[in-house]
Amino acid sequence: MITNRHVVLKRAPAAMPKAADFEVVSCPMPAGPPPEGLLLRIIALSMDPYLGGRLRGRHMGEPAPAPGGKLPGFAVAEILESAHPDYKPGEYVVTETGWSRYAAVPAAGARKVTPGPAPISAHLGVLGMPGLTAWAGVTQLAKVGDGDIFVVDAAAGAVGGTAGQIARNLGARAIGIAGGAKKTALVTETYGFDACVDYRAEGWQARLKAACGAGPTVHFENVGESVLQTVFPMLQIYGRVVLCGLAEHYHSDAPPPVLPVGPIVGKRAAIYGLVVYDFYGRLDEWVALATPWIEAGKLVVHEDASDGLDSAPAQFERMLKGQHLGKAIVQVAPDRT
Ligand SMILES: NC(=O)c1ccc[n+]([C@@H]2O[C@H](COP(=O)([O-])OP(=O)(O)OC[C@H]3O[C@@H](n4cnc5c(N)ncnc54)[C@H](OP(=O)(O)O)[C@@H]3O)[C@@H](O)[C@H]2O)c1
Repeated sequence: MITNRHVVLKRAPAAMPKAADFEVVSCPMPAGPPPEGLLLRIIALSMDPYLGGRLRGRHMGEPAPAPGGKLPGFAVAEILESAHPDYKPGEYVVTETGWSRYAAVPAAGARKVTPGPAPISAHLGVLGMPGLTAWAGVTQLAKVGDGDIFVVDAAAGAVGGTAGQIARNLGARAIGIAGGAKKTALVTETYGFDACVDYRAEGWQARLKAACGAGPTVHFENVGESVLQTVFPMLQIYGRVVLCGLAEHYHSDAPPPVLPVGPIVGKRAAIYGLVVYDFYGRLDEWVALATPWIEAGKLVVHEDASDGLDSAPAQFERMLKGQHLGKAIVQVAPDRT
């Protein structure tokens, strides 16, 4: 008999969520799809930084889930049964399923994805929301092109790693900032950035300055004030800054970061706030650009997958602490694509 399991919150997390805040429980297999809905076999769950804030009711005004209730976040799943004419068994979708092995969900909001040159789970990373975020910041906001000197932090992650690879494919020099030797090696040797600086090592600021030459023309910020304070003074006049993520601030009780206004004027800098929701309607455009790049080896998908649904709480805690390498996922079931 097939058994279902799902992950729930035991208690509302008081600070940064930890593995101990969750429990994995057995539950009945859904009897079938709901009316107009889908019965899904979940293949992989996406572990994203925003979920830490989301679980505490601190993300874009969305309420925190109640203990015991369905957890937020996207999964890629195979359709087992469909009660909707537009979806067929054997097709794949990305949707919010809760953290479980099997789920019965409404078809509304389920986005079909097709197997391609990367694992199907890439639709949670490079070919999904994080990749779209990178594409939007690099091409639609900063409009990176030939001759740009592009700096990005959290460069080993799904957003940062994709942003640098896109910038490079468009003719820029890509320089990463990342925490630790394993991450910097991934960024240069696997993603192919021109350079990457370990910001946990003494003297990183000088190494970054040397790697940038005349200075960045574009900075893509994923971490927060501590990096921005170092990079901003190096920015060239008329430089562009994309403010994408504030990973170091999400679970901090310190006052929110402040951007000094004077230096922005002095640099004649353009500052862009990025919210990926604005670009969801253009995901197909990004996937159409990215897929041949993946086939040609010009865009690398690197996943940090934990094994099985029961590993989700620990993988989530690792991801929130930044201990993962690449795109963090939970491989719930084998990818048979
Ligand atoms: N604006 C939007 O619409 C949007 C959409 C998607 C993602 N984002 C943001 O983009 C950023 C990157 O997302 P991602 O999914 O690719 O994540 P990620 O880079 O895989 O993970 C976040 C990284 O932030 C770095 N970091 C620095 N200080 C940290 C701290 N105190 N705690 C935890 N991590 C810390 C770590 O990398 P190092 O060890 O290399 O420093 C960590 O790996 C995140 O800030 C995310 O929230 C924004």
